[in-house]
Amino acid sequence: MTTRELAQGFRLAAAPEAFIDDPYPTYAALRAFDPVHALAPGSWLLTRHKDVLALYRDGRTSSDKRREFAPKFGASPLFEHHTTSLVFNDAPLHTRVRRLLMGALDQHAIARMQAGVEALVDGLLDRMEDLAAPDLIEDFAARIPVDVIGNLLDVPHADRAPLRGWSLAILSALEPAPGADVLARGNQAVTDFVAFLKDLVEVRRRHPGDPRTDVLTRLMQGEVGGERLSEPELLHNCIFLLNAGHETTTNLIGNGVHALLGQRAQWDRLAAEPELMATAVEELLRFESPLQLNNRISTEAMRIGDVDIPPGSFLTLAIGSANHDPEVFHEPQQLDVARKPNHHLAFGQGMHACAGMNVARLEARVAFGRLLTRFPDLHLDGTPQRDRRIRFRGWRSLPVGLR
Ligand code: HEM
Repeated sequence: MTTRELAQGFRLAAAPEAFIDDPYPTYAALRAFDPVHALAPGSWLLTRHKDVLALYRDGRTSSDKRREFAPKFGASPLFEHHTTSLVFNDAPLHTRVRRLLMGALDQHAIARMQAGVEALVDGLLDRMEDLAAPDLIEDFAARIPVDVIGNLLDVPHADRAPLRGWSLAILSALEPAPGADVLARGNQAVTDFVAFLKDLVEVRRRHPGDPRTDVLTRLMQGEVGGERLSEPELLHNCIFLLNAGHETTTNLIGNGVHALLGQRAQWDRLAAEPELMATAVEELLRFESPLQLNNRISTEAMRIGDVDIPPGSFLTLAIGSANHDPEVFHEPQQLDVARKPNHHLAFGQGMHACAGMNVARLEARVAFGRLLTRFPDLHLDGTPQRDRRIRFRGWRSLPVGLR
């Protein structure tokens, strides 16, 4: 198959196994030969950095998913959940929830989290040292965000065990072509999660927390324009917060360690020059972006590249491709922990840009920093298992040796 044919025949909903292992050759082909690629009638995939960035900033778009999710989810808990969360809404719901959230995720709030994240990470590394066969995902990367978001919502420690499973089940239903079993698990997870949060809200009503640090109390008490969140809005946006911050951050840490070990000179450089940590985190976000795809609907006619896009079209933004576009990044397949500038789009851009990006950056800085200091000889010790989904890019298992 020629590179042009690879680009023109690409189908996201039936992505080949080779694409799941390594999407970057396909993305390069798409950028070169078919950068505004028709996926189906009325549906396009954008792969160039300039087109993805322009669309994020374009006011003629909507994030409202009701039309797309109605046939996919039917009248179901998954439909109610996803269409009530801020990320899949436009103003006014989006604006109200975002304002309430942002106040609890500002720089002061992040600074207050730092000591807790350090203690959490150190505790996980202590525990890993005692394990015969530590797994960097299961025993480290997946445990950090669930506790950080658990702290943000002040979920009692003893009740946190099911959170990760619910989050995985709900997000898996967002894959381009989820099977019936995936949908059933997703719906059950929303139902269980809502019941769990109703109890938590009830307790918090009786014993409110500090709205400066406790996001749940903030969302319960907060008013924007004299209006509070309804109960479904409150519950579904709490679920979304946990989901948004969980797998993405796990994958940033897992993908980052895997990438650094694969280009060992970069691992060694970061160990020797810890002052590069801030640029390294941005580079790891770029290099293997945890969230690979975002979506928008055009609300007016527009032209992207040389394609006329009618109103009401489905547009898929390929973040992973934009972040490997050689028009913007010199030698994009080379990991460079000192890369600067680094205009990656791993957190999106514009009105819906990731509200938790600084929480994720804090978790990653602490995780990589403590890992490098404590185990500079860390290495893979077994065969990594890739997560075979395409919206989220990450590892299910990364067996490691510590010394
Ligand atoms: C490496 C980790 C993360 C990545 C790669 C990531 C990526 C993203 C992206 C690309 C979006 C934009 C979605 C869109 O435009 O449609 C987004 C939105 C969002 N993220 Fe993150 N995220 C991460 C971590 C977090 C964390 C830790 C939190 C919470 C503490 C969080 C909360 C949110 C929220 C609330 C939104 C919706 C914002 C809105 O619609 O206005 N994220 N994230």
